[in-house]
Amino acid sequence: MIGSVGVALCRRVPIAELFAPAFRRAGSTLLHPSEVSDPEAVRFALCFLPDDNAFAPYENLMLAASIGAGADGIIRCPSLSPQVPVVRVEDADQANQMAGFALFHILYWHRRFDRLLEAQQEARWARARSGRSPKGVVVGVMGLGFIGRRVAEVCRQLGYAVVTLSRSTPQTPMDGVRHMTLDALYGFARQCDIVVGLLPDTPQTKGMLDADFFAAMKPGTALIQLGRGGQVVEADLVAALDGGHLAGASLDVFAAEPLPQDSPLWHHRHILVTPHTAAEATTDAVVATVENAFAALMQQQRPRGLVDRDKGY
Ligand code: OXD
Repeated sequence: MIGSVGVALCRRVPIAELFAPAFRRAGSTLLHPSEVSDPEAVRFALCFLPDDNAFAPYENLMLAASIGAGADGIIRCPSLSPQVPVVRVEDADQANQMAGFALFHILYWHRRFDRLLEAQQEARWARARSGRSPKGVVVGVMGLGFIGRRVAEVCRQLGYAVVTLSRSTPQTPMDGVRHMTLDALYGFARQCDIVVGLLPDTPQTKGMLDADFFAAMKPGTALIQLGRGGQVVEADLVAALDGGHLAGASLDVFAAEPLPQDSPLWHHRHILVTPHTAAEATTDAVVATVENAFAALMQQQRPRGLVDRDKGY
């Protein structure tokens, strides 16, 4: 890609500002659309949430690359030609960030920090003898991509029982981890003490975490949603928490982002809200994704992180 010209396409993140210096150091140019004088010279787009017509001026694109682990906003963009390969980042550092973030919330709900914090408010010494061991606590990880695998691995290393769920059976099974496929969704829900949601946003996963799913979860369990918000039917989640069936939820992603100020999720006593901040790809990983993809495409090989646009991830 050395010497290539790219354009930054996103309505939310100032991609050109954030990434242009690193592309310059790598010998390429990344421009904001307002800086592009010759759209035909643009060979790659670096994007996250492009506007509907964002790709229209660039007829010679060889590649559209996400700055993140997801590419749903890119592949849905109507102006992106079906011919252009799309890649997303697979970054070990981002996977570690996500595993750490997931673990924080897993511990929060497993060790009932909500109750401990309440007890602290009341200056009450709420020491209990049981409930500390991760053995027998079943963490269900939905989504077994690059990041989901790392989350499952870290939970396993800490002694949690782990069950994973994805669309198909993984080619490389994980030691000591039970796997289920999406058609067994409710069977999966029935087993888990804590569910970590990391599935991509596809027509199949949209609205999947609804009243039926929450009813199938064991009483007193928790949802940690870190992948995409469109999977959660927020009203159903609030009902499951208000009815006391679920203990709590940690939500980092939402159907509408930024989460509207009048959303009831902000103030719910059993919900922890964070602003889509669980993990982000490093700048180096983003540059390397584009570099590797160019190199692979030149050699007619499959780039790392290539998105299957039919599957939607
Ligand atoms: C994402 C990311 O795709 O943050 O949401 O990487």
